[in-house]
Amino acid sequence: MKKINLPYTLVDLQPELSSFKDDVIAGLGQMPKTLPAKHFYDKTGSELFNAITKLPEYYVSRAEMEILHDFGPDIAAAIGGQAHIIELGSGSFEKINQVLPFLDKPAAYKPVDISISALQDTAEQVLKYYPALEVTGICADYTSTLEFLHEDLEINKTICFLGSTIGNFQREEATDFLQSLGSELAADGQILIGVDLKKDTSLLHKAYNDEKGITAAFNLNILERMNKEMNAGIHADDFMHHAFYSEEKGRIEMHIQSNKEQFISLEEHTFHFSKGETIHTENSHKFSISEFIALVDQAHLEVDAFWTDENEWFGVFLLKKP
Ligand code: TRP
Repeated sequence: MKKINLPYTLVDLQPELSSFKDDVIAGLGQMPKTLPAKHFYDKTGSELFNAITKLPEYYVSRAEMEILHDFGPDIAAAIGGQAHIIELGSGSFEKINQVLPFLDKPAAYKPVDISISALQDTAEQVLKYYPALEVTGICADYTSTLEFLHEDLEINKTICFLGSTIGNFQREEATDFLQSLGSELAADGQILIGVDLKKDTSLLHKAYNDEKGITAAFNLNILERMNKEMNAGIHADDFMHHAFYSEEKGRIEMHIQSNKEQFISLEEHTFHFSKGETIHTENSHKFSISEFIALVDQAHLEVDAFWTDENEWFGVFLLKKP
């Protein structure tokens, strides 16, 4: 663990050697081929994702921001005063900037993100607007450690988990993850979580297949990352973005599809791709309100409050311990 003191504290919990290479070798060796979505977020990936959140087709971020803004006073009252806000996958400043202005004397803000550049940007922005706030940036992969939540059990702790990232877990893993978050909370701790709701398939399809091709660039950027960090020599044109909604699984699946038969060499490994074969890079599960409430119940938590937009496209839930 590295601790750096800037105007804010920065804690680096990332292993010295990134797990990117190991995960790529392991993932491409599987049948079907797969890669963990967390590796999207290098510097370029984080920037491309920010661009996605501004796309007209990507209603997800807009709907969530609208809810956070419109129900700000309500949400803040439910969170309570002197809150210690921990934001998992903080990404850009914009989400939390909808929440902070409404809070009653927030005490501390801890953004947690896998991308150190995104984390630094957010910490700096927050301090610019809220100089009195105690800010601790934590660079960590929260899917492999929650050790940064261990301390401060007795304070008013609210974990913010926005952007419907919960939908990027497999359904059973989502339950387990929520349950482990719950176990890190004191009796009065809370989780503010954003959840993308089920809706018309064509809207979902467009949101992950935007006209400008930013989502495609975001997906294919993982190949560029393999070129940069592993000298993979991949021609991005030999692959394409493939995203579709599976009604049966209730999720958007994102794949990188090979346009032809080809071999990719990575270090001492060679991987064969048949024409049309895919690497499964992401799932984005969509929930009905009752499905999400059932998941919360299975995770031994309770819904304390729930806010949604006019179209009921997105839900913001406040969870507490029973
Ligand atoms: N949680 C977001 C979602 O599922 C983030 C996301 C992951 C995403 N991969 C994406 C968004 C690809 C757009 C495109 O929507």
